[in-house]
Amino acid sequence: MALRKIREIGDPVLLKKSKPVPEVTPKIKELISDMLETMYDADGVGLAAPQVGILKRIVVIDISPEQDSPIIMINPVIIEKDGEQTGGEGCLSVPGKTGIVTRANHVIARAFDENMQEFEIEGEELLARAIQHELDHLDGILYTTLVEGELMDNDSE
Ligand code: NI
Repeated sequence: MALRKIREIGDPVLLKKSKPVPEVTPKIKELISDMLETMYDADGVGLAAPQVGILKRIVVIDISPEQDSPIIMINPVIIEKDGEQTGGEGCLSVPGKTGIVTRANHVIARAFDENMQEFEIEGEELLARAIQHELDHLDGILYTTLVEGELMDNDSE
């Protein structure tokens, strides 16, 4: 395992569309464990492969306070969303900033795990927000383009 460099806003890789992953090779497994290590090291709740410069449709999420419940999503798609939530959001690729974003409050997504087993995940509130935010990264969308009002300095960091 190794830490990967997190790409920051202004890096063109963050605006590109990622490609589907046809199979989980040892290299993909290594990428996933590096992404988890990099996310935990940076105290993030989610990380998408393009944020470490790899244009593949892979995201990792962990919203648990103990940071011991990783969710690995390969080729994820949102199949249902409803409701609405408006709240603060941040991104490891936009350090020190936060902004208000409105998203669906409830989502159901389908993805493959690190063994290429398909699964569905249902999320509300923070998990729903994280899923939508991370999946946006796979299409080159940063939350900064969705922010209502100004991007603010995050004083808690
Ligand atoms: Ni992000």
